[in-house]
Parts: sequence; C-alpha cells; structure tokens
Amino acid sequence: MSSQKQSVIILGTGSYVPENIVTNDDMAKMVDTSDEWIRTRTGICERRFAAEGEATSDMACAAGERAIQAAGIDRNDIDLIIVATMTPDMPFPSTACLVQSKLQLPNVCAFDVQAACSGFVYTLGIASSMLQSGNFNKALVIGAEKTSPILDFEDRTTCVLFGDGAGAAILTREEIEGVGILGTIGGSDGSDPSVLQQPAGGSAIPASVDSIQARQHYLKMNGKEIFKQAVRVMGQASADILEKVGHQASDIDLVVPHQANMRIIDSLAKRMKIPMEKFHNNLERYGNTSAASVAIALDEAYKAGRIKSGDIILLVAFGAGLTWASSLIKWH
Ligand SMILES: CC(C)(COP(=O)(O)OP(=O)(O)OC[C@H]1O[C@@H](n2cnc3c(N)ncnc32)[C@H](O)[C@@H]1OP(=O)(O)O)[C@@H](O)C(=O)NCCC(=O)NCCS
Repeated sequence: MSSQKQSVIILGTGSYVPENIVTNDDMAKMVDTSDEWIRTRTGICERRFAAEGEATSDMACAAGERAIQAAGIDRNDIDLIIVATMTPDMPFPSTACLVQSKLQLPNVCAFDVQAACSGFVYTLGIASSMLQSGNFNKALVIGAEKTSPILDFEDRTTCVLFGDGAGAAILTREEIEGVGILGTIGGSDGSDPSVLQQPAGGSAIPASVDSIQARQHYLKMNGKEIFKQAVRVMGQASADILEKVGHQASDIDLVVPHQANMRIIDSLAKRMKIPMEKFHNNLERYGNTSAASVAIALDEAYKAGRIKSGDIILLVAFGAGLTWASSLIKWH
C-alpha cells in the first residue's frame, strides 16, 4: 500500500467536445470506407471535429473552466497548469501558457507535456509528484487535442480513427492518508518512431514545399504494429501499477482505458480478467481523442455516477513514442 501521509486527490473534472459530429457515413463521403468497416474494426461510430479557428487551447479552456466549476475552487488558488497535447496551438509558446491567460489564471508555472495519447496519464503523475513535493497546492491538468488538421483525408487507414476534444481535472493535496492518486507509472520505447508519427514540422524535417507535397505533415501510422504493441503495453502497464501500489485486478471498480480501438480494450479486459461492465468507454461517440481520451472518459464516468467514494479506478493509456502510462486512484 502507499505509505504517503498526504494524498493528492481529484477535486473536480470537466470535459468539452466540439459540436460538429462527423459520422462514419460522413467519412465514407471523403474516403473509400464504410460505416460497417469502421464499426467492426474499431468500435467507432462517430467523432467530433473542431470548428475552423477553434484551437486546442480553446477546447482546453472549455474543459478547464468546467473542472474549476466542478471543483468549486477559486481560480486564483491554482498554482500549476499542465496541458498534455501533441497538437498544440503552435510549437511555442506552450498551450498551457495560452490557457493561463485565456482562463485568467494567476501567473503560475505552466507547461505542456508531449507524450501523445499517454499524455493525460503522464500529466497526472507529474502533477501528483509536484503537489506531493509541497511546492504546489492546486493543479489544473488538461488533456486537449485537435487531431483533425493533421489527419490525411487521402489515407483511409488513419483518418477514420481520430477526433477532437479536451478533458480536465483539478488536483489538490489533502492531509489524509491512502486516498486519491495511489501511484502512476510511465514508460517509453523510442526505437521505432515511424510506427506512429507526424514526420515533418519539427527540426528534423522543417516545413518546406517538399514536405507539404510529400504529405509529411500528416499523421502516419503502422496500424497492425501499433495494435500489437498496444495490447502488450496496456496489459503490462496495468499489471505494473497494481503491483507497485499493492492491489489486485479484482480490487478494481472501474477501468478508464485510452479509447483507441474496442478490440484493444477487449484484449485488455480478457488479459486482466475484468468484465467489460467495469470499463468506461466512449469510443463509439468520439473516436480516439489522443491525450484527451482518458480525461474525457473519466469526467463522463464521474458525471454518469459510475465513480463513488472508496472506488479503485485504473487509468491506462498508450500512444506514439511509443509511450504508455497507468495510474491507480482510490476515489476520496
Ligand atoms: C487501423 C486498424 C483499425 C486496421 O485494422 P486491421 O484489422 O489491422 O486492418 P488491416 O490494416 O489489416 O486492413 C485490412 C483491409 O482493410 C482495408 N482498410 C484499411 N482501412 C480501411 C478503411 N478505413 N475502410 C475500409 N477498408 C480499410 C485495408 O486496406 C486492408 O485491405 P486489403 O486487405 O485489401 O489490403 C487497426 O490496425 C488498429 O486499430 N490499429 C491500432 C491503431 C491505434 O490504436 N492507433 C492509435 C494509437 S494511440
């Protein structure tokens, strides 16, 4: 069991998805696909695409504002802002800085975390450690993503999978033992970035006419390879966090997994011997919202009354990098 004398708890959550619903039939008008193919191969029925001009920071702010309201805190008490995203408004400044200003938060420590789809769970671990250090008291953590502009609508194997949205949580340190975020782990394997990447736009391949013509600013993925790795690392990350904090799979009341593919979630459920009723999924409505996915699902699960005091909740994610992360929470 965790020996911490203080606990970092989630005081409130919030989420936001854009209004524009894009169904599988809508996707079939853009690429050679079908509702039947997408549904049976992935579990996705529709996704949301942000409006033109609606940036990642706008969605992050909408989710963040809802989390602040749900937590019932004074925004002036926030002293740490972290945004997990792989689709920031711009390379710099960070999206977290833009959120600081747009939400009229104090001039506090604000930065982005880039761990792709594992970003929100990574961020929970980072914020939790910073709060445990005693140097920070209240954190706004957000997973936000506008994937739609980096989707290649000439590549049917990737563009049908992703969507836009944001989820947020307010974390604080409390003088109680053994509740809240019991532990978080993260891992990485950068040996083959080509499995899932946006090749151009950084220092290796700066934007040029050639990079644009070669469609290198779009998301590229080896779906079969990432599928195999996802099944392996989701299972391992779940087992590792249970071992780290001294719990067993049978203790878990709710699993909030990264929403990438229903078949990956099914494999995780089988491997952990946890019935699907204990999973909270929203993949069918939002697709893969990357760093926002676990954050949105956590907020929805809480609002749907699926989380009550004393519940043990597993968050687990994987993404480009390869990255993976898991967190075990005992709800306060
Ligand atoms: C992408 C994914 C759904 C593909 O499913 P799959 O069962 O592996 O499908 P395959 O790649 O074997 O493709 C099977 C066929 O469907 C076709 N196909 C691919 N995308 C299609 C689409 N959107 N519509 C219709 N057909 C499609 C392929 O071209 C292939 O046709 P072929 O047999 O004539 O060559 C699956 O690999 C996956 O979900 N991987 C993980 C992706 C992921 O989680 N990414 C996010 C990480 S955070």
